[in-house]
Amino acid sequence: MHIVQTRKDLRALVGQWRDAGETIGVVPTMGALHDGHMALVKALDGRVTRRIVTIFVNPIQFNNPKDFQLYPRGVEADAALLAATGKVDVLYNPSEQEMYPPGFASRVMVSGLDSMLCGGDRPGHFDGVATVVSKLFNQTGAQVAAFGEKDYQQLCIIRRLVSDMDIPVDILPVATVREADGLALSSRNRRLSPALRQQAALLPAALNTALAAMQAGQPSAAALADCTTTLQAGGFTVHYLELRAQQTLQPVTQAEPGARLFVAATLGDVRLIDNMPVLVSA
Ligand code: PAJ
Repeated sequence: MHIVQTRKDLRALVGQWRDAGETIGVVPTMGALHDGHMALVKALDGRVTRRIVTIFVNPIQFNNPKDFQLYPRGVEADAALLAATGKVDVLYNPSEQEMYPPGFASRVMVSGLDSMLCGGDRPGHFDGVATVVSKLFNQTGAQVAAFGEKDYQQLCIIRRLVSDMDIPVDILPVATVREADGLALSSRNRRLSPALRQQAALLPAALNTALAAMQAGQPSAAALADCTTTLQAGGFTVHYLELRAQQTLQPVTQAEPGARLFVAATLGDVRLIDNMPVLVSA
């Protein structure tokens, strides 16, 4: 596995690969890798002949400087994990200077989809994501890119971006990987104390309960209100809990296939997100 830190070195490698007719896949990440990220690497099996994993903690997508500072970092451990898979050709780990050289002034904005859910309480977040992901697509020249359903709104925004801007990359969605107790794997989980980590399992459990209630015929508003109460009683501050159409992310009231439940809630000082689909009609 090559560790590459500059655009120039990356371009030289991917240029050779493309000349040789290889198919390049990319997994963009911010590091602190876990089995969720590894599932994205694996999802490229059989679809590509070369794999690039990018690790870049992107400052422009953090609207809270403390969150950026506290974001877990550990490239050596990440590199060891990736090398151990035997599947990754390049770990691309550019510096902030390399990604945003002095004078950098552009932003990519996917309007509409960026103002709801996580966009509402994290202004500018998705512009930062769309900007860095556009750069990573250009830098890697990847034909396939894997993104997790864990960040479902991000996945929708990237799909929109690729379609709107005619970027020649196929987006491969990957199902959320969870711990045994249901908590979605996240780099942020490392910031939970052991006690809060135990409490955090209430988040997926409460979503499952709400979905089951809706699928059994309880009106969605009542099920969501009960779910919020449960989460608050469990120590969470709930930022949003909403049923939305998974294609458009528009609000829906009917729990039917195609709808998805989205939540963001803070436990301690750790903001967690999750989402789950409605599988059957009431
Ligand atoms: P990061 O949070 O590191 O996530 C990188 C990728 O891993 C994303 O596509 C995310 O959805 C996926 N992922 C995270 N946890 C997962 C889980 N439990 N199951 C499945 N997939 C999971 O998302 C970002 O970084 C950044 O916004 C990025 C796209 C890299 C742009 O900076």
